[in-house]
Amino acid sequence: MSMRATVEATPNIAVVKYWGKRDETLILPTHSSLSFTMDETLCTRTTVVFSPKFRQDELWLNGQQMDLQDKETAERFGMLELIRKQAGIRHKAKIASLNGFPTAAGFASSAAGMAALACAASKAAGLDLNAKDLSILARLGSGSACRSVMGGCVEWKAGKKADGSDSYAEQVAPASHWPELRNVIAVVDAKKKKVSSRSGMKQTIRTSALYPARVSYIPVLMRDIKAAIQSKDFPAFGELTMREAMNMHAVMLDTWPPIVYLNDYSKEIMYAVNEYNQAAGKIKAAYTFDAGPNAHVYTTDDQAANVRKMLQSIDGVKKIITCKVGNGPQYLKNGHLLEEDGTAIAHQYVEGKGIVKT
Ligand code: PMV
Repeated sequence: MSMRATVEATPNIAVVKYWGKRDETLILPTHSSLSFTMDETLCTRTTVVFSPKFRQDELWLNGQQMDLQDKETAERFGMLELIRKQAGIRHKAKIASLNGFPTAAGFASSAAGMAALACAASKAAGLDLNAKDLSILARLGSGSACRSVMGGCVEWKAGKKADGSDSYAEQVAPASHWPELRNVIAVVDAKKKKVSSRSGMKQTIRTSALYPARVSYIPVLMRDIKAAIQSKDFPAFGELTMREAMNMHAVMLDTWPPIVYLNDYSKEIMYAVNEYNQAAGKIKAAYTFDAGPNAHVYTTDDQAANVRKMLQSIDGVKKIITCKVGNGPQYLKNGHLLEEDGTAIAHQYVEGKGIVKT
């Protein structure tokens, strides 16, 4: 039996952001969050092979071997042990992962990577997990990754249980619900962030006086934004999205020492989007920012060309990428990054072509 699987997964961009854990080890959030999974414009491909012949787990990211003894990497890959336990195997794994987008795009998408790993590793181990169980596995690699194991609009339910069994992702609407929706990404800085989200959110919980107010407003926001999405009411959706992003960045600023992810270019983008909406007489574009200065501007297909033009005219915008909402992870029959015996099959990302064999 083949113990190899290859999966392509894509990032998700939250409109209700996850910021704060109630359990650091199980990665359980203090509140629920909501995102759209992107299409394959920004995919990550991962191949996992298990074999009784392998003596240790090995990992290559974009062709570079990573140190699995490194604490942060080891934590993220802890899900491998769980998969082996569930599958009743002790085989070690070889893993190769390749980003299908320019490395200078400014997002080291841990969500896509960890979702691809959860799907590929469980499949290679012979498990046939449902979306809920896959999201629980991916969550252990990176919280936000649990929302990338399915397509469309996805909610990560915070849950209440100490064991995390009720903290998982669930699809709110499939990608086909709002096919007109676009995310126009404006890259202003491609460097790695100075404060990791992991340590940043820990610090926020410990020090921000505004944080309890944020946590208590989230349930109402979740209700209202889901209603706006269900009725495809862009102005309502857009306002809630922008206000929520600013709420998260407000508690980041209120953290001690302060965490500042936005820069002057992010601010220019916010002003330009506000002016764009004012000129249109209603909200037609809505920005959101994760733990970094790059803008994700949600809009609809009829506005996308104008929104791109508007963003292009802003000083500091280095690259623009437009995504649609995607269908979630794809299991590939061809295009594996590793042979069954674990030897690498050389691939690379070529702009305009995607991931190709070299
Ligand atoms: O999953 P992490 O630890 O990379 O956290 C990411 C959190 C944000 O991107 C800032 C928000 C979100 O919900 O994606």
